[in-house]
Amino acid sequence: MSGKNYYITTPIYYPSGKLTVGNAYTTVAADAAARLKRMQGYDVMFLTGTDEHGQKIEKRAHEAGMQPKEFVDVMVADIKALWELMNISYDKFIRTTDDYHEKAVQKIYQRLYDQGDIYKHEYEGLYCVECEAFWTDTQAKDGKCPDCGRPVQLAKEESYFFKLSKYVDRLVKYYEEHPEFLQPQSRVNEMLNNFIKPGLKDLCVSRTTFDWGVKLPFDEKHVAYVWVDALSNYITALGYGQEDDSNFKKFWPADVHLVGKDIVRFHAIIWPILLMALDLPLPKTVFGHGWLMLNGDKLSKSKAAGANVIDPVILCDRYGVDAIRYYLLREVPFGADGNFSNELLINRINSDLANDLGNLVSRTTAMADRYFGGKLDAGIEAEAIDEELKALADEVTEKYSSLMEQLLFPNALSEVWRLISRANKYIDETTPWILAKDEDKKLRLNTVLKNLCEAIRVTAILVQPAMPATADKIFALLGVGSDERKWDSLAYSVSGDSCWETKTGAPLFPRIDIEKEMEELLKIMKKDEKAAEKTAKKEEKAGKKEEKKSEPVEGIAQIGIDDFGKVELRVAKVIQCDDVAKSDKLLKLQVDLGYEKRQIVSGIRQWYSAEDMVGKKIIIVANLKPAKLRGEISEGMLLAADSGDDVLVIFAPDNAEPGSRVR
Ligand code: MSP
Repeated sequence: MSGKNYYITTPIYYPSGKLTVGNAYTTVAADAAARLKRMQGYDVMFLTGTDEHGQKIEKRAHEAGMQPKEFVDVMVADIKALWELMNISYDKFIRTTDDYHEKAVQKIYQRLYDQGDIYKHEYEGLYCVECEAFWTDTQAKDGKCPDCGRPVQLAKEESYFFKLSKYVDRLVKYYEEHPEFLQPQSRVNEMLNNFIKPGLKDLCVSRTTFDWGVKLPFDEKHVAYVWVDALSNYITALGYGQEDDSNFKKFWPADVHLVGKDIVRFHAIIWPILLMALDLPLPKTVFGHGWLMLNGDKLSKSKAAGANVIDPVILCDRYGVDAIRYYLLREVPFGADGNFSNELLINRINSDLANDLGNLVSRTTAMADRYFGGKLDAGIEAEAIDEELKALADEVTEKYSSLMEQLLFPNALSEVWRLISRANKYIDETTPWILAKDEDKKLRLNTVLKNLCEAIRVTAILVQPAMPATADKIFALLGVGSDERKWDSLAYSVSGDSCWETKTGAPLFPRIDIEKEMEELLKIMKKDEKAAEKTAKKEEKAGKKEEKKSEPVEGIAQIGIDDFGKVELRVAKVIQCDDVAKSDKLLKLQVDLGYEKRQIVSGIRQWYSAEDMVGKKIIIVANLKPAKLRGEISEGMLLAADSGDDVLVIFAPDNAEPGSRVR
């Protein structure tokens, strides 16, 4: 091993639904970069995984009627199967529910707490569950999340805060001194203008309104904010905070965190500040790529659910894994947004893969077979046109390496296609079929075909990171041995005595009849729509039946688990209770929720005296908007049953902890 290390990561995905071809885009890009580095002799650590905690996952699990862990286990199995299908060569797959990760996250929190970078306060503001992100009023205009457009909800809870503001000057200085840190450069201004200049507030890093997360070691009522939990994966996966941290010592700081533009701010603000607080070096580069768009919209998991035509599994099945990998890397200018459409995809397959690359390989191997039985040996002196082909191969190789280093995949691939086009033109210019007619030109014909084989061999090495299986097929057709497949033997060279033993085979990429295929896709889409309609109707019918069954509560609208989840029921202990002076119906209760105390006013005086209530544990709606009753503020409502003429307060069991959630 050369001693050169390379550490590249993808974001860890929420296992909340089917992954889309948009998610596959990031992962394929990271895979191509990792494969190239391995070819170049680096010791590579390519990390991917899943981000399994948080309110969103908890909610999705409940919607599916499952426990969160049970739910994520199923989803993660699907994600791993997709990566296997797409030939993703990750070295490590981290799950944030892995025990070692959870423990290391606790150590991180403890350290930040001990050194005074985390403090307790109350959070009051807006939260988007879908993006697991906090927003200010100005950012979330009209109550909508600026990232996903979904409604944000008011969050008010006791929280721990992380002192982002303490480190912000250091971060800005870091941006200035390390222009390579955040790429493309345009993202730096985005961070400065949208988040840093308006004033970076301390970050709320714990939650108490749900418990699907890593418990804080110094206060078990709180779970870690999912983004701090998630970002830490980049170091915990290497053994940070664990007994064996040899990989951390070897690979940290990361060479590249590859992320979509929507999550750049977490990686370029929160993550570097966290690392500064932990006294660790920052990753060398955070690369924020653009989105793959479908009809002007970001492909999303929910949108993809019914649209089978953009499901990566179905796409790979219809067109082949390498065609999809190639399309993703070739079509979207890395850093900017790009469009996905089945039509664009099929056009790419037909023109670049079937016509250009596929034809070059099949024409060459077919001619080698026809004229020489597949055996090419000693040739003669190179002619000018051969030298020209070699010069272009050298130029392409050099440019390709530099473009790949900058993660400019489309540009790098387009260089390779310059070589492929030149080689196809070389066939037209050297006209092997005419040379074959003249016995005296046999040696020249042999040399021409050897040059073509060599150009294809170089091409196959260069397309290997993007299309590993195709490269292997080409090497096999040309009889290229394992040594000649390597990066070290990339240099184009046709020596007089080099030999080839080629084979012919099925076309690498059969041409697709675009009209027929589009018709076929339309049929699939219609079938999908019908199936979705059928399910909706079935559900509606089932709903109506349910309604009939529950006739006694006629008039009460049914709600989904989603709506119920919005109601925050908690156990509260009554520590004091008094009559409300200006009323003969109201009692004023001081209650303890464990994490805070508040006042609740309730109209139960006709049935309960103040003394009856003191010391009892009741259940309250804790997230009810505060209201004033007879001049007294009431922050919540207690639960009671209307039983005939009586009102019976619902008391919680004696051993129920104040503050615990009631579901
Ligand atoms: N769990 C967080 C990441 C935590 S990393 C410490 C997350 N997960 S995600 O599953 O929602 O998204 C993962 C990545 O997929 C993001 O980088 C996002 O930008 C990317 N993409 C999702 N849809 C995409 C497209 N349509 N196009 C390109 N990338 C897309 O965010």
